[in-house]
Amino acid sequence: MNFSQKMLRDDALQGKVIVVTGGGSGLGRAMTQYFLELGAQVAITSRDLSKLTHTASELESLTGGTCLPLQCDVRHNEEVENMLQQVLKAFGKVDVLLNNAAGNFISPTERLSANAFDTIIDIVLKGTKNCTLAFGKHWIDSKQSSATVLNIVTTYAWTGSAYVVPSATAKAGVLAMTRSLAVEWAKYGIRTNAIAPGPFPTKGAWDRLLPGDLAQKFNLAKKVPLKRVGDHQELANLAAYLVSDFSAYINGEVIVIDGGEWLKGAGQFNMLEAIPEELWDQLESMIKAKKNK
Ligand code: COA
Repeated sequence: MNFSQKMLRDDALQGKVIVVTGGGSGLGRAMTQYFLELGAQVAITSRDLSKLTHTASELESLTGGTCLPLQCDVRHNEEVENMLQQVLKAFGKVDVLLNNAAGNFISPTERLSANAFDTIIDIVLKGTKNCTLAFGKHWIDSKQSSATVLNIVTTYAWTGSAYVVPSATAKAGVLAMTRSLAVEWAKYGIRTNAIAPGPFPTKGAWDRLLPGDLAQKFNLAKKVPLKRVGDHQELANLAAYLVSDFSAYINGEVIVIDGGEWLKGAGQFNMLEAIPEELWDQLESMIKAKKNK
């Protein structure tokens, strides 16, 4: 099976203007590339303008689309407002906000300074809030008939996870925001959904979350029932579908794309996967023998 195939028809996002925060690298870049291939005009934002400019010109030559690099630290509301104005000036409108910008690192929580904890909350939760509020108010005030917010969360937004507590706390907030606004802003034609990706290796995340030889030591593919990590195109396919009009009736949903990873950790007897076939024969006889007593 070729899971790297592109899913949607070529004009699926024709006429859409999309903003991807954190679009300069990693998964943000992969999603941006596919949006451009599907005919959207895309603004990518991050703190690092030179990286963004480089990415935008690479993506424009790869896809023939229009990609606008805009410097914006999502932690600062005035920068977000300014970014929105620049998008409107360049494209005349905006249809989709993809809250992808994130910050994360592994650490025992007791080692974190108050500022370290705040930094992650500020990027993930406040950053998503700043963008969503600015774009949402614009859509409501301008009476735009339809718009979409797509948030990138994680499966530990609901399970929690040790050693990434600020990120888990912030992503849980983003998940609550997703479901709350899906109901509250539906009357304005604004759909709000989320994607919870499992392991999709990117350099930025892997260097922070599995530094040194940790990536070898903790092979994340082994934790996944499907026994592999995700391919960037698989995530891009899902994101493109969720921001397209094909998903017009999907609102308030969080779609997990993790090969079954988080459920594997949850099911009480999932560890029985380690039992070989021959042992199952013995176990079956033992269980049946008990029943017949
Ligand atoms: N362990 C413990 N504390 C850490 C840390 C780590 N690995 N990395 C940073 N911190 C602390 C810093 O010491 C600082 O706290 P202090 O002022 O009390 O010393 C605080 O976090 C902020 O760090 P700083 O480097 O000043 O913040 P920044 O705004 O420049 O960078 C980060 C933000 C820390 C999230 C940085 O990793 C980053 O830029 N990440 C962006 C990309 C990203 O994380 N993507 C997600 C991939 S999964």
